[in-house]
Amino acid sequence: MILVTGGAGFIGGNFVLDWLDSLDEPIVNLDKLTYAGNLETLASLAGDPRHVFVQGDICDRDLVGRLLAEHRPRAILHFAAESHVDRSIHGPGEFIRTNVEGTFVLLEAARAYWQSLDPAGRESFRFHHVSTDEVYGSLGPDDPPFAESHPYEPNSPYSASKAASDHLVRAWHHTYGLPVITTNCSNNYGPFHFPEKLIPLMIVNALAGRPLPVYGDGRNVRDWLYVRDHCSAIRAVLAGGRLGETYNVGGWNEKPNVEIVMTICGLLDEMRPDPAGPYARLVTYVADRPGHDRRYAIDARKIERELDWRPVETFESGIRKTIEWYLAHSGWVANVQSGAYRDWVATNYASR
Ligand code: NAD
Ligand code: DAU
Repeated sequence: MILVTGGAGFIGGNFVLDWLDSLDEPIVNLDKLTYAGNLETLASLAGDPRHVFVQGDICDRDLVGRLLAEHRPRAILHFAAESHVDRSIHGPGEFIRTNVEGTFVLLEAARAYWQSLDPAGRESFRFHHVSTDEVYGSLGPDDPPFAESHPYEPNSPYSASKAASDHLVRAWHHTYGLPVITTNCSNNYGPFHFPEKLIPLMIVNALAGRPLPVYGDGRNVRDWLYVRDHCSAIRAVLAGGRLGETYNVGGWNEKPNVEIVMTICGLLDEMRPDPAGPYARLVTYVADRPGHDRRYAIDARKIERELDWRPVETFESGIRKTIEWYLAHSGWVANVQSGAYRDWVATNYASR
């Protein structure tokens, strides 16, 4: 049995589905169900005894301790976080609470639990921390991609909170010997992605005939990975990663934002033509994100070399699958566009 935190979110939800697609090892899924958590993502698991869902906060030390004592997992996979950079700019407090304090609470509970295990249990236990390439800061156009040895230079409240959590995880290994591994992954995309992030926002806005808001000059570069490839990387690291190490995860897929938006428009023109004209007519340049990192790129050679991990999807295959998924799941999309979602859209875009 494994304990997953944040398993009703985008990547955690895909991870839970991916894990139970290929294995019979049960999952306890601890998720607070913030605006980003959605049980509909896990609807296909209804009645499946391999999935135990617990609504709760990772900052709740008693709850986390009780879950560990009751379910006795062999690993904790820590996905839960506040994850959206723009929200961290409007309100950083929750990012410090969940990403920093929440990780601290989990580490302390994990340490107490791990110390209570017999020698074989202690030997095999893992605390897997799911983190981001944003902790490394921003690259210039000709810089080499981020290697694991790149200095930490976080620039947003979100990335600073993730960097702090990475440092706590590292320290709990160095000081207490807790068997931790951290993965730092590039931008994910795929099914069940909340439409506040670039790719799903562009798809749902285009389909609704709304503007496609491109920040700044649209030339910021991100390195895109299909979410199920991230899930397979986490599984590979959990199975064979070296303790105390960090592994960068990415698919060598750097693209400027405007190219992503134009690709989505072109595919939608083909798959769901709009009688009003090509979707690219909706592209609207808006005020830039404050402190906007210019370029991220991942050097994934360590995980490739040590664990023989490679992504399955190319960007072309992954983005097509993603758009097909959004076209086929208009109900999921409609349900996440609640009043709170509309409030967020007004907060972030009305004054741009
Ligand atoms: P998400 O925002 O879609 O989901 C986060 C989940 O965590 C939600 O289900 C939410 O309800 C839950 N959660 C939030 N606060 C909680 C708390 N206090 N207690 C319990 N649950 C809580 O995020 P995501 O995009 O799926 O990201 C998952 C992890 O992967 C994060 O740690 C993020 O930093 C990291 N990451 C994300 C990306 C990406 O491109 N999305 C890339 C690299 C790393
Ligand atoms: O790099 C990994 C990170 O990727 C994760 O750690 C974060 O959790 C995840 O949210 C993501 O962060 P980004 O800030 O890169 O993702 P986002 O989808 O918000 O933005 C991608 C790019 O698109 C970025 O350069 C900003 C731009 N953008 C975004 C939005 C929402 C726009 O131009 N317009 C928009 O409306």
